[in-house]
Amino acid sequence: MNTIYLNGEFLPLAQACISVQDRGFIFGDGVYEVIPVYDGKFFRLSQHLQRLAHSLEKIHLANPLTQAQWETILGELVERNGGGNQAVYLQITRGEAERTHHFPAKVTPTIFIRSNSFAIPTSAGVKAITLEDTRWSHCDIKSIALLSSVLLRQQAVEADATESILIRQGQVTEGAATNVFIILEGIAITPPKSQFILAGITRELILELMQEVELPCREEPITKSQLRYAEEIWITSSTREVSPVTNLDGQMVGHGQPGQLYTKVYSLFQNYKQRVFHG
Ligand code: PDD
Repeated sequence: MNTIYLNGEFLPLAQACISVQDRGFIFGDGVYEVIPVYDGKFFRLSQHLQRLAHSLEKIHLANPLTQAQWETILGELVERNGGGNQAVYLQITRGEAERTHHFPAKVTPTIFIRSNSFAIPTSAGVKAITLEDTRWSHCDIKSIALLSSVLLRQQAVEADATESILIRQGQVTEGAATNVFIILEGIAITPPKSQFILAGITRELILELMQEVELPCREEPITKSQLRYAEEIWITSSTREVSPVTNLDGQMVGHGQPGQLYTKVYSLFQNYKQRVFHG
């Protein structure tokens, strides 16, 4: 995974350089996407490009490429890196300029794409902790300014957990880098889309797949005490797919094992991948 894309060129990672004046470096002024690739093929690419367009619009940055151009560059990068399973990281910053907080008048965005190897996650249970959501109020933007998320995830790691589940004013928002579902009385619930969560592509797919087979699911606010009494908790993301949280703040969730509904949804997800890639 040593070939990267930077501003129109494919380069070895070691040769890629950006300016220390880049607003991504100075201000975290940029947005990103993480897109999974299975066996050389992109998964839910148009949804990721659509969300990228949303993030760009929210930060008043014109999309530097068309959908077709994105697809061509991304496809070539994956191929140059040997296909297989990859997690593609794509970042656009406002570009290189003198440091002023406001937008510079003339600036060319920096486009950086790199691919990492992607170990397909298992369905094993993970631990999570709850923390106060200390992030800003534009979490629907997939911003590269992630210091709060970094600190929140680090606290999970220090507690020997995989994820921090975040609480804002008594309600669950999402994980530091995942969306959250809980099961209450057999119904899957995930917080509705808002400025306080990222509209996860995996979250949306899980809802679609459950609705397709008429498994009960809802988009509703979740209180901290509902989280505490949940029969099951799942976290979702492009690199995690869907994982069961079997331990929350040191207490077992349900019976401390991946739940029944989880097992169904996990296989719906795996079958869907088979369907889209192999017909
Ligand atoms: N993170 N919420 C947050 C805050 C996230 O950062 C992510 C993904 C998600 C899940 O979104 P999706 O299903 O579209 O991946 C939810 C990526 C994987 C990351 O930052 O590495």
